[in-house]
Amino acid sequence: MLLGPAEFMRIEIPREFDRLGAVRIYGLQKIYELDAGPEAELPGQEDAVVRSLPAEAIYGVQREMAIVVPVRGERLKLIEGVLVGIPNSCLVIVVSNSPREPIDRFFLEQESIANFCRFTRKQVVIVHQKDPVIGAAFAAGGYPELLDERGTVRNGKAEGMMIGTVLARMLGRRYVGFVDSDNYFPGAVNEYIREYAAGFLMHGGDHTLVRISWHSKPKIVEQALYFAKWGRSSRHCNHALNRLLSHHTGFETEIVKTGNAGEHALTLELAMSIRYATGYAVEPFHFIDLLEQYGGAIPSEHGDMRRLIRICQIESRNPHLHENKGEDHIADMIRGSLATVYHSRLCPPGLQQEIDAELRQGGYLKEGDSLAPVHVYPSLDKLDLGQFAAVAREAVERRVAAPASAA
Ligand code: GDD
Ligand code: MG
Repeated sequence: MLLGPAEFMRIEIPREFDRLGAVRIYGLQKIYELDAGPEAELPGQEDAVVRSLPAEAIYGVQREMAIVVPVRGERLKLIEGVLVGIPNSCLVIVVSNSPREPIDRFFLEQESIANFCRFTRKQVVIVHQKDPVIGAAFAAGGYPELLDERGTVRNGKAEGMMIGTVLARMLGRRYVGFVDSDNYFPGAVNEYIREYAAGFLMHGGDHTLVRISWHSKPKIVEQALYFAKWGRSSRHCNHALNRLLSHHTGFETEIVKTGNAGEHALTLELAMSIRYATGYAVEPFHFIDLLEQYGGAIPSEHGDMRRLIRICQIESRNPHLHENKGEDHIADMIRGSLATVYHSRLCPPGLQQEIDAELRQGGYLKEGDSLAPVHVYPSLDKLDLGQFAAVAREAVERRVAAPASAA
């Protein structure tokens, strides 16, 4: 129990939003203080441009939140650091696609996480992406699209996120957030998750998406530390999404700052109804799917226009530092994210030409190649959750690292 008043988080209210049909994209919100102290003004007493959110309210949201941590072969020390940063009030769902041979890395991850949970009483569920029981549960739930020819879930970060989303739903959470497992700073992870909660508190609603834009990403440039603002992939991706939006609203905009934000959270209502694109196209495609389904510019395929979709963007303060995965990986990510815009039913021919030229100029598309469409999965709403749970429940309960405290 908390003694006395809790500390507050001081955050800017969104200054503006762009709207397309039922979708509202709010401008970037700055964090002014991670901890504004227990004496922060009570709501209503402060001026209108910032709000102080009490820690108790933030914990309240986190208690209803699952944090999904996708893992593929990351170093154990990094994964542990990420767990250190996740607030204890959240349920953690680790979805690992780490190799099991020649060394069983998944076994090592389980062991290390179980050990960590003994010290912290953290609630952690850990599953392997290729667990046949998880594959069988998707088959039983009538969702074979996610499975490969052996009946196990396909490879990919998005596919891992989809497992995590369904488990969060099955375990009764209201919100699901994602954090990568290769983050070097536990403090950054902690901040992201507090900001997810802040976003839900400030925007409310059942169809809300909170996305984080990093304040900076440190790099070594000419032997000195340089705090870059935008990664290469996010620069291209945000620009294309803003161009798409501008085309449909008729007003040029730069509102989208989080096109490919790996750090994001959704209400489970939205997470179950949105469509996921494969691999790393998953995050920009969330924008595309929402604009296609709820933007009103083209007939919706699965969206319900009576919903109000809120996309909230928050700028975190900690620098973001993660593993360097190399040039090819960045090129794949750029192609994947631009393909979501290029192949959208909303994309006008002029923008397609621009994207094509940009990719060729950057050397991301070679002579004679064209931009391949990304694979998109149907919405998880079509999954029969009861049937899924009947198969998956036992496997999930077996894998809970802190049995006494798990949901
Ligand atoms: N379960 C699972 N399955 N996890 C995976 C898989 C997989 O097949 N592949 C990768 N991961 C995990 C990694 O271990 C890591 O924790 C996370 O997914 C992100 O993968 P990275 O390979 O580190 O991606 P990145 O750092 O280049 O890109 C990140 O940031 C981008 C925005 O700049 C990702 O979050 C992207 O999705 C995001 O667009
Ligand atoms: Mg990474």
